[in-house]
Amino acid sequence: MVLLGPPGAGKGTQAKKLTRRFGVPHVSSGDILRSAVAAGTPLGQEAKSYMDRGELVPDRALLELIEERLGKADCLHGFVLDGFPRTRAQAETLFGMLEGLGTELDLAAALLVSRREIIDRISGRRVCGSCGASFHVTFAPPAREGSCDLCGGALVQRDDDREATVAARLDVYDRETEPLLRYLDECGLLARIDGTGSAEAVFERIVGSVAESR
Ligand code: AP5
Repeated sequence: MVLLGPPGAGKGTQAKKLTRRFGVPHVSSGDILRSAVAAGTPLGQEAKSYMDRGELVPDRALLELIEERLGKADCLHGFVLDGFPRTRAQAETLFGMLEGLGTELDLAAALLVSRREIIDRISGRRVCGSCGASFHVTFAPPAREGSCDLCGGALVQRDDDREATVAARLDVYDRETEPLLRYLDECGLLARIDGTGSAEAVFERIVGSVAESR
């Protein structure tokens, strides 16, 4: 399945829960790109400037990384794809990749959250600089302020969570990804999910859509 939704809608939070429930890996295009940036690879160096501006990273290199990841053995019995596709062109490429792998998409779940709530969620998000775990100062606080519950690493704000970049990311979502929802709906794959309320409540809604898609 794929998870869609604007920045801060809760895709990463829900993908982790789905991974635990269904025993399939979480494949996040944002995490793949952030790893490339941290490793200083040529793709990472190129991607960073786009990510810092809140723009989409060009397809040419990203697609190869996604295809390589989906081709790994742990994706054989399914996966939760978070943040990819974001455009109709990426969706069409994904369908081709999956056909090549002898599988297909069951569900595209789009999390719906108002812009006001997104700003609250993103402004309070803190991520671990060591292991990447995500927290929220109010909605999902760590046990000890500023410190990761999982590895004890220092919690920081993501570079692209600055106010101006968030506004750009939301504009890109409206322009590039909203039209994709219509396309996925035409393909009979889209479930629009109310992304508000507790993370547990949102999770149960997604699980209900997964059950209906089978
Ligand atoms: P990416 O990392 O995918 O970022 P995003 O889509 O903007 O999504 P976020 O990670 O910001 O939010 P999320 O929906 O996962 O929310 P989360 O669960 O963390 O992409 C980053 C950049 O990489 C892009 O801008 C682009 O440049 C590039 N990129 C990535 N994919 C690409 C692609 N396919 N093509 C081209 N470029 C690409 O939750 C947010 C906060 O809210 C957390 O603090 C969490 O604790 C809290 N929270 C979650 N759920 C709830 C809830 N129910 N109630 C209260 N708080 C909640």
